[in-house]
Amino acid sequence: MKMTFRGVLATLTILGLNFVDADAQVLPIGNVKSVVVNNQKVNLTTDHAQTEITVYSANIIRVRTDKSLKKDFSYAVISQPKSTKVNISQTDDVVIIQTDSLKAVIQKKPYAISFQTLDGKIINQDEVGLTTSWVGEEVTTYKKMQDGERFIGLGEKTGNLDRKGNGYTNWNTDAFGYRTDQDPIYSTIPFYIGIHNKLNYGIFLDNTYQSDFNFGASNNRFSSFGAQGGEMNYYFIYHKNLADIITSYTALTGCMKMPPLWSLGYQQNRYSYYPDTEVYRIAQTLREKKIPADGITLDIHYMDNYKLFTWDKQRFANPLEMTKKLSSMGFKTTVIVDPGIKVEKNYGAYERGLTDNIFIKYPDSTNYSGQVWPGWCHFPDFTSDKARNWWKKEVKFFAETGVSGIWNDMNEIATWGQKMPSNVLFDYDGMKASHKQAHNVYGMQMARASFEGITEQVPNKRPFILTRAGYAGMQRYTAKWTGDNRSEDNHMLLGVRLMNSLGLSGVAFTGMDIGGFTGNPTVGLYARWIQIGAFNPYFRNHTAVNTKSSEPWSYGEEVLEISRNYISLRYKMLPYLYSAFYEASTSGQPIMRSLAIDYTHDDKVYDTQFQNQFFFGKAIMVAPFESTDKYGKVYFPKATWYNLYTADKEQGNQEKIIQLNMHKLPVYVKESSIIPMQSLIQTTAEKPTDTLTIHVYKGELNNNYVYYEDDGDSYNYEKGEFFKRVISYSPSTKSLVFDKVEGNYKSKFNYIKVVFTGFDDLKALKNTGKSINTKNEFVSLLTPISRFDPQGNSNPAEGYQAKSLIIKNDTGKITLSW
Ligand code: NOJ
Repeated sequence: MKMTFRGVLATLTILGLNFVDADAQVLPIGNVKSVVVNNQKVNLTTDHAQTEITVYSANIIRVRTDKSLKKDFSYAVISQPKSTKVNISQTDDVVIIQTDSLKAVIQKKPYAISFQTLDGKIINQDEVGLTTSWVGEEVTTYKKMQDGERFIGLGEKTGNLDRKGNGYTNWNTDAFGYRTDQDPIYSTIPFYIGIHNKLNYGIFLDNTYQSDFNFGASNNRFSSFGAQGGEMNYYFIYHKNLADIITSYTALTGCMKMPPLWSLGYQQNRYSYYPDTEVYRIAQTLREKKIPADGITLDIHYMDNYKLFTWDKQRFANPLEMTKKLSSMGFKTTVIVDPGIKVEKNYGAYERGLTDNIFIKYPDSTNYSGQVWPGWCHFPDFTSDKARNWWKKEVKFFAETGVSGIWNDMNEIATWGQKMPSNVLFDYDGMKASHKQAHNVYGMQMARASFEGITEQVPNKRPFILTRAGYAGMQRYTAKWTGDNRSEDNHMLLGVRLMNSLGLSGVAFTGMDIGGFTGNPTVGLYARWIQIGAFNPYFRNHTAVNTKSSEPWSYGEEVLEISRNYISLRYKMLPYLYSAFYEASTSGQPIMRSLAIDYTHDDKVYDTQFQNQFFFGKAIMVAPFESTDKYGKVYFPKATWYNLYTADKEQGNQEKIIQLNMHKLPVYVKESSIIPMQSLIQTTAEKPTDTLTIHVYKGELNNNYVYYEDDGDSYNYEKGEFFKRVISYSPSTKSLVFDKVEGNYKSKFNYIKVVFTGFDDLKALKNTGKSINTKNEFVSLLTPISRFDPQGNSNPAEGYQAKSLIIKNDTGKITLSW
């Protein structure tokens, strides 16, 4: 007898199946049929899938689901579950997993998981009617949209800070001159943070296939995440503070190592500087014009016809001599590398690649060819040990010529036509994968090979590695820049948001092309951009081929002075910046911090008027505006704020319209902050004076600031060669305490000068009980640019009066009290 469609629905419903489409266009996970508890792990069999739920720590629970679970493998996650106190119980209807921080309640019919606080508040829950399902190979998990829920993070994504109402795709893409709303662009970090009802959580979908996130786009029911293939494999992270979510995420995917100090200095780039005499001219001019700088980068024209691991001998006759000479001038050299190896008989890298058989292939075992700069190329399979080892040997070429940095470009993989076939095969570290699965992780594995290669070739020296494409966890190997932006105001601000979002997603070392890559900025835009760049973790000026020169002197005398002012400020702030990097390397905290990290539940920080404001480290708040704006509205969240230049105070919980001018970027310091600075140097190869200036700003908050120093160059810090101390400011005990120093490194500073800002009433000061003399001094962080005053007045330097004193940088405890 033939059954009607309605009949089938009715029968399935009687059988207890909620999902009733007999055409099976959508395959739901279904009901839980069996439960096996094994220590911190619960294995469930449902109607159509296997699910494994693992407690990673009191704050992290992992959920894996597939039609049938296969071997567990990840390029992103490097940590194993920690032994954790867990209570797992069940009834006919639910399984409950409870840690000291969090509870997961798994409903059995149908399967649906709900994450809750210990007192039962819903943090995040499956949308019960939809939960997890498949459409073909595409798997998606649907979460109930919570009241007022916001979504932030997801790595390098355009658009607003709050991603509510939008959908995003992860598929690493060569996005030349991308639009400010273009998606996807270069990299994939399937990690986001949800915020609602004073709660916040993180979800990391660890799946390298094309993934899609929906934060209420075209629907008002759910948020969802899914991938075109592979497992539903996500980590749920819950903490009370958003910053801890980032720390837990980087506990899973790894933190960056300490970068070489020189890579925090100013970097001068263009596509391309050549020949060597031009490189010297740039370096020399930076020195002559007193623009502090540490790096020069060579783009593709250093190669012989864009062939990797070659030098154009006409342009660069003696590369080693050049890098040595640059080094003697205080510059390190970074070179670009692309993955494409030119198909050309007798070209060394090509022949060696063929011999070692390291190129990605079609299923019929022929090497895949795609076109890039050199013409037709083969591409090393960076997802295989064999090809990574090959690359590591090849980068010896750079080690031998004194190169200090490797810039990994075009590694999405970019090929002309931008349609690399799906049937190209990758090793995927023995797991074997098609292009569909390997695409998003290729760039990260290339950066990894570069990092490991140069580290092996030049032992105990920190390399600088930069990448364009990447996947979650890339921070372990590389810094990341945001690719081919445009010389436009909205792109400058988009760049800020991209970096803020990367920072929320575990990547702390980020930069953008200052001045814009495509096109030519106006004078005002260039000035504003370089000011903002001084507060970016990676600070480099770069521009495309055939654009105007983009060195700081290319936009006239006034911009030259502005550039010098802000680049100099950057160099003076290096002790502060370096300590922020130490935090990034230990707890994953970003250097550029969206205000959402410290003011998560303040609605104003998501307001599109204020979403570009960011913290540089934890003390300094930058308010960037378009260069054409004459006025700007700044939001001061709860706290008292000091104008960086004048020390004028602003109250918190306030929106304020301020007047803007080209000479100054609005920057504020949070009350109770501690900011270490040094004397001006022209390159990090130069030693500052032996006095470290500690700026302390009066406030009502307690602050335990971690000051960190090491040799800036080797990995000896991993063996205890560092100088670290906590400096605590306490308004109630009226004291500034320098704790005993940890580590065996001798600070480069013999003295500490403490500058007290905002302490108008400061009188008697004591150093560990003994009276100590202070003096009044004039603090000025920028040099006046009086020549350009329209009235022709000679402006006095802008600054303020503060009390200061000098003490010896003893390694024991020092207590200053007043
Ligand atoms: C694309 C990169 O994004 C850009 O920065 C570089 O200058 C060009 N490739 C040329 O190598």
